[in-house]
Amino acid sequence: MKHPVFAANWKMNHAPADAKAFVRQFLAYFPRQQDRTVLIFPPALTLHAVTDALKDRPDIQLGVQNIHWEDKGAFTGENSAPIARAAGARYVLVGHSERRHVFGETDEETGKKTAAAVRAGLTPLVCVGETLAQRNAGETGSVVLRQLRAALAHIEPHQISSSLVAYEPVWAIGTGKTASPADASTVHAIIRSELRTLTGEREEAVPILYGGSVNSGNATTLLAAPDVDGLLVGGASLDAEGWATIVRA
Ligand code: 13P
Repeated sequence: MKHPVFAANWKMNHAPADAKAFVRQFLAYFPRQQDRTVLIFPPALTLHAVTDALKDRPDIQLGVQNIHWEDKGAFTGENSAPIARAAGARYVLVGHSERRHVFGETDEETGKKTAAAVRAGLTPLVCVGETLAQRNAGETGSVVLRQLRAALAHIEPHQISSSLVAYEPVWAIGTGKTASPADASTVHAIIRSELRTLTGEREEAVPILYGGSVNSGNATTLLAAPDVDGLLVGGASLDAEGWATIVRA
């Protein structure tokens, strides 16, 4: 039996008042369920409002979408992991495609951010994925492994074991194109095998989520695919009713 993980990445959407309305609606559609994990990654400026709105639902956990690799200091405009933790975050996305491709985040930086997250008591959700050009060149496996190894390079095997990974092909994000369940399974199996090596465990239990144009119509099929342990959802997580349909998949 899977214990699926459903993660909503709101990206740069939902001001505090919208977020509160979202949570009210979402909770009405989604009574507490023990058999799945639900995470929401609101914008950092909205985190406080969502933490407050979810105070009676500790089963739903929150995260931030990015952190700096230093804990504190003169880094104007950045969010630190300890501050995010103190503000209610328990998780953090590291190496999201938009951080890498819009903001030029490097593999080395993702490694430092994962280490900062773990230091601060945040669970990292490490995102990896290839571009269309890399896929067409047959480089999917090598790209994903390079990103994975770099992002996990500075944490201990037992810390890797309590992290999460998301496979988000760049060409599938926000495009309406998803990886086929079979293709997602193939890449997830590559990631799984590497995690076994990195953790030294034969049966490693790191949840591997799929992300990229997931919606209420394709969520069930993707989740049923071997080695797909959860879903990381952007656009379709912005609507409370639609998101509730997905998390009930
Ligand atoms: P979409 O679901 O909008 O394709 O975004 C996926 C994503 O980037 C989640 O992190």
